[in-house]
Amino acid sequence: MNKLKIGVIGAGTISEVHLNSYRNNADVELAAICDLNVQRAEAKAQQYGIPNVYSDYRELLANPAIDAVSVCVWNHAHAEVSISALDAGKHVLCEKPLSVTVEQALEVEKAVHRSGKLLQVGFVRRYSSNAQILRKFIENGELGEIYYAKASCLRRLGNPGGWFADRSRSGGGPLMDIGVHVIDICWYLMGRPKVRSVSGNVYNKLGNRANIKNLSFYQAADYDASQNSVEDMANALIRFENGASIMVDVSFTLHAAKDEVTVKLFGDKGGAEIEPQFAIVSEKHDTILNMSPQVDNAAFDFAEGFQNEINHFVGSCLGRTATLSPVEDGVEMMKILCGIYESAEQGKEIYF
Ligand SMILES: NC(=O)c1ccc[n+]([C@@H]2O[C@H](COP(=O)([O-])OP(=O)(O)OC[C@H]3O[C@@H](n4cnc5c(N)ncnc54)[C@H](O)[C@@H]3O)[C@@H](O)[C@H]2O)c1
Repeated sequence: MNKLKIGVIGAGTISEVHLNSYRNNADVELAAICDLNVQRAEAKAQQYGIPNVYSDYRELLANPAIDAVSVCVWNHAHAEVSISALDAGKHVLCEKPLSVTVEQALEVEKAVHRSGKLLQVGFVRRYSSNAQILRKFIENGELGEIYYAKASCLRRLGNPGGWFADRSRSGGGPLMDIGVHVIDICWYLMGRPKVRSVSGNVYNKLGNRANIKNLSFYQAADYDASQNSVEDMANALIRFENGASIMVDVSFTLHAAKDEVTVKLFGDKGGAEIEPQFAIVSEKHDTILNMSPQVDNAAFDFAEGFQNEINHFVGSCLGRTATLSPVEDGVEMMKILCGIYESAEQGKEIYF
């Protein structure tokens, strides 16, 4: 069988995880890599034995041998690069968020429909084995009706700097970068109910705390702490048409005692936590049971999640399965995220 020929656009920090995961997939040939910083692309090409290197993504897309691409560039270019790739007849794995505005997201959705190609949004947490195990429990009614979810992703020190801290390229701060993951995993596990309204707050109180020493954190390839135009923290209440709700809070910097990731779901028959530790909560014979699924990783395993995500993308491109994170879900998530910023700006709840 011919291998799926992959191009990776954007050769920064996260591309490494995409490249490793593709390299581990026997159906893939890593065929091309591109970055505005061509030395960075060349270094990756050498490391992974990739034959074609580009500094302009349009040249990569003009290569007819490429079947599919990973889009790992700055957020504000996700839509433009994805649309060009779809129109060039390539399947696309686009890193989250799908875009930085709802309008852009809708344009990507149109391009998916007109091209007939696949676009998978990089909602990597959906692909973790724990999320898929929990889905089985939920689909079998173990939690009953899920009416509430609570998600936090709090970093006391973790503004990745560079473009992440430049709102014109990132579209926003921790809400766009890490809020997207935890809101999405709750929404996905709740069965993707239709959003009714959002109410949000964003705060710019601490800046990036670049003065802090002795703690390390995720940084953009071009780390630069001298600029910062994104929020430190955001919180929101998301209401759905079926009456369910999600409460979320996220931060890049906060006077918190420690970093924290929590994802909790509450139903009328049972509950579940997949962060910080996978647990299922139930009640039997008038007794509350806290159950610990016996699994390899009690919390989200980055390498495993990405490997599953890439394997699933490759399988979808080859027609073996359907993606778990289609473009429509990327659009819905952009409505939620942009709605939260709009609500914070206007100081009132936003209705859809
Ligand atoms: N799924 C996850 O958990 C996860 C984690 C980290 C980052 N990400 C996403 O991955 C993307 C990249 O993040 P990163 O941490 O690798 O950033 P990064 O700054 O380390 O790398 C981005 C690279 O893209 C290049 N680039 C930007 N625009 C380009 C263009 N138009 N054409 C070619 N190259 C271009 C830059 O030169 C840079 O090398 C972002 O969208 C981010 O949200 C996802």
